[in-house]
Amino acid sequence: MRFFAWAVVKNGITAMSKLRLRGFEIYKSHLTPDAQRNLIAALRPVLKAAPLFSPVVPGGGQMSVRMTSAGAFGWYSDAEGYRYAPKHPRGSDWPAIPEPILDIWRELTGLERLPDCCLINYYGEDARMGLHQDKDEADFSYPVVSISLGDDGLLRLGNPTRGGKTDSLWLNSGDVVVMGGEARLAYHGVDRIRFKSSRLLPKGGRLNLTLRVVT
Ligand code: SIN
Ligand code: MN
Repeated sequence: MRFFAWAVVKNGITAMSKLRLRGFEIYKSHLTPDAQRNLIAALRPVLKAAPLFSPVVPGGGQMSVRMTSAGAFGWYSDAEGYRYAPKHPRGSDWPAIPEPILDIWRELTGLERLPDCCLINYYGEDARMGLHQDKDEADFSYPVVSISLGDDGLLRLGNPTRGGKTDSLWLNSGDVVVMGGEARLAYHGVDRIRFKSSRLLPKGGRLNLTLRVVT
């Protein structure tokens, strides 16, 4: 298992498998190519109703990742800080979370409680996400479930406190990560993507969906 985890970290092995790293549960190739295409089709009307936008961070810069959300709440950031908002910045409700996405939550968490936010991150060629914790939710006993679609992304996995050693792991299209237990408040980020490494999205790029219980 140790060697296997090392090999996946270094080379991004894509066979279906489950591994655990720093408490992150990583389901490699969990979604078949058909299931991935089905999710993209389900996301199309969501992205039409709630277009991607580039949030401003409290320091004043703009995120390189473009994002939107589905569910009762959407993650939002501006000069006043990070928070969940009940409306898209253009004033409309967020669209419902598509059922095939909720099915992944049901299958991997076994929880009756469903997420009330699906944050949709789009990484273009130069986008990245700095190390951060997901801590704007009310109850950290619920996991965050992360679904990767499209180009490969290099996930960095850290510690529950800032600093210290980190590991890096390539996430490929169809991989799903469950961040619960000791990993729920672990720092994580995406250092870079391998643009056009996948043909799932016609124009390239990476979509990451994170399912969260907010309230
Ligand atoms: C996130 O932390 O919100 C996104 C993680 C990822 O893109 O894999
Ligand atoms: Mn996060």
